[in-house]
Amino acid sequence: MAEIIYGFGSSHGPLLSTPPEKWDLRAADDRKNPSHPFRGDFYTWPELYEHRKSENDFEKEIEIGVREGRAERNHKSLDALADKFEEVDPDICVVVGDDQHEWFQDQVQPSFTVYFGDEVINTGLTQEAYDAMAQRSLGLALSLAANHPPEDHSYPVPTGLAHRIIEQAIDDEFDIATSGEQPSNEKGLIGVGHAVGFIYRRILRDKPVPVIPILLNTFFPPNQPTPKRCYEFGQSIGRAIRSWGEDKRVAVCASGGVSHFVIDEEFDDRLLKAMAARDVDTIINEPNHMFRSGTSETKNWITVSGILSETSLEMNLLDYVPCYRSEAGTGNAMAFATWQ
Ligand SMILES: [Fe+2]
Repeated sequence: MAEIIYGFGSSHGPLLSTPPEKWDLRAADDRKNPSHPFRGDFYTWPELYEHRKSENDFEKEIEIGVREGRAERNHKSLDALADKFEEVDPDICVVVGDDQHEWFQDQVQPSFTVYFGDEVINTGLTQEAYDAMAQRSLGLALSLAANHPPEDHSYPVPTGLAHRIIEQAIDDEFDIATSGEQPSNEKGLIGVGHAVGFIYRRILRDKPVPVIPILLNTFFPPNQPTPKRCYEFGQSIGRAIRSWGEDKRVAVCASGGVSHFVIDEEFDDRLLKAMAARDVDTIINEPNHMFRSGTSETKNWITVSGILSETSLEMNLLDYVPCYRSEAGTGNAMAFATWQ
């Protein structure tokens, strides 16, 4: 029988790949954004600044020395996760991430998708394409380079386990979507999305470990699944892996989160502690309106908590790094954890 032997969670936001002196590039976009979600309401940047003024001294949080220290901590944790993955050396890795208009568009936006094709291609980003992108937006170019190798890379998909996950989901009354073929558009094959691409590049170090991408719609209204549904879907995936008749060692990964692009340290602390303590009530009762924009990716972590709920693996938070980039408390809070 297959065994779940390891779990890990890693943020994947663009600031991880942006030098700290350039975090301002994204802060400029924050100032223009007319609708920052924060604890159920929406704010312009000046409104958010006023609203959060008394809460924290964000001016200090964005000083370059502070940013440099945080960037260093991020890389230390990412290196630790990559080293650990190499050491654990699982046969298969199930990656729970979100699709952000990469494979799925507004025409059809499934809540939960299991990919069961034979392989996944992480499409290459040539130097030429990078340079052209950098002319338009250096921030975007840096984050694309973090998720895409210089040339196309193919990763095998353990289709037997993917089918077991699909069957179990249906038995458990999840009317999930499935994808058996990587989508294309007029420009050709659409590479695997950022949530999986980042893990391939930065944690798996491009080693062609068999991966099953499981994609959630955490981001786009109106059909984002609730935290409860994500947790239960995770439990179903856990049952599927443990009942699969192959003798394989399986790792699972939560990609993305935690709060961004408005950092909410209270929210992150509450959810991360609840996951470590297996406090299911707190996890599933967090209101859905708290999970908007990038913060919604915390649902990928909730799903993984569900997968691991019936194992003896314990969560260990390696680091929590709130990477602020503007005086209104915008940025990306990063979390890195293992379940062992
Ligand atoms: Fe993301």
